[in-house]
Amino acid sequence: MLLSPRVDFCKSLNRRMFSISVLTCIVVVLQFPGIQPDEQLRIIGGYDAKLGEFPYQVFLALKTGKNSISIFCGGTIIGNRTVLTAAHCVLGDANVYQHPEKFCIGGGITDLNNISISHVYEIRKVIPHPKYTTRNLEYDIAVIKVKNKFQFNENMRPVAWSRYTPADNTTCTVSGWGVQEFNATRPSPKLKAAQVMIVNVSECSKNYSVQSSSLIIDPKSMFCAADRTFSKDACQGDSGGPLLCNGSVAGVVSFGYKCAYPGYPGVYTNVAYFDKWLRGSSGCSTLDNYFLLSLFLPIVVQLLNKSD
Ligand code: ARG
Repeated sequence: MLLSPRVDFCKSLNRRMFSISVLTCIVVVLQFPGIQPDEQLRIIGGYDAKLGEFPYQVFLALKTGKNSISIFCGGTIIGNRTVLTAAHCVLGDANVYQHPEKFCIGGGITDLNNISISHVYEIRKVIPHPKYTTRNLEYDIAVIKVKNKFQFNENMRPVAWSRYTPADNTTCTVSGWGVQEFNATRPSPKLKAAQVMIVNVSECSKNYSVQSSSLIIDPKSMFCAADRTFSKDACQGDSGGPLLCNGSVAGVVSFGYKCAYPGYPGVYTNVAYFDKWLRGSSGCSTLDNYFLLSLFLPIVVQLLNKSD
């Protein structure tokens, strides 16, 4: 069954959903009183991805009707049932964390007009990083578990996450269905990708902190990437999606000042920094551990009593 082309986003809902991703960025934008709105909107210089070129790329969408969804974030398949995304995609207005049943994950396609039910997966649970903060979007990382195992094939399969922070000047690839112009309301119906380079984090930090003292790019848990001419970047709707460096997912699209704005590289969550947390939450979450502990605690207490 084909999901209706309303996937190409029923306007009002789309606008609402996009306001979600835009919102986090508005938080950022409001903190830059010195900058005037960009008159000349930039197209983010991506290319059309080929089917199977980014088999680990998924989208996160709101179910808007029986056969329609509205896409608002990206994600990366990192396991049989596990997706890596940004915490700001699952907390906030689009509260996937509290209402997983209202949302879904989709992948194995590039053109949103060709989505069928076989591309869509129900969400079982969401594990945002417990230290995620909206203040400067620190710890902007989350794991989503889907109900059924992903049906892996040449168009859909997992990718490893990086255990190393990518070095400055590494060329990486960012992908997503996000908007192609800052402020646009319609995301790209086709999956796009762009090559960007890792920018020295203190360089990047300088530019951001000049505008707002609360916008500190944490050099450990975040990094920046941009194109030399600032003509390629991720944008609204790409959040949560992958930045692939040397064959593994090294970054999660987090935020930026507008998109492809000169002097302001895109900011990514540094996946390597969360290696330990990811290993825990992609298998068994902390919450699960507490749950298991609460199950076994009475047995332990009984055993202790017996040994008296
Ligand atoms: N916050 C945006 C989202 O929720 C992603 C922005 C990325 N921006 C950038 N200039 N790299 O989709």
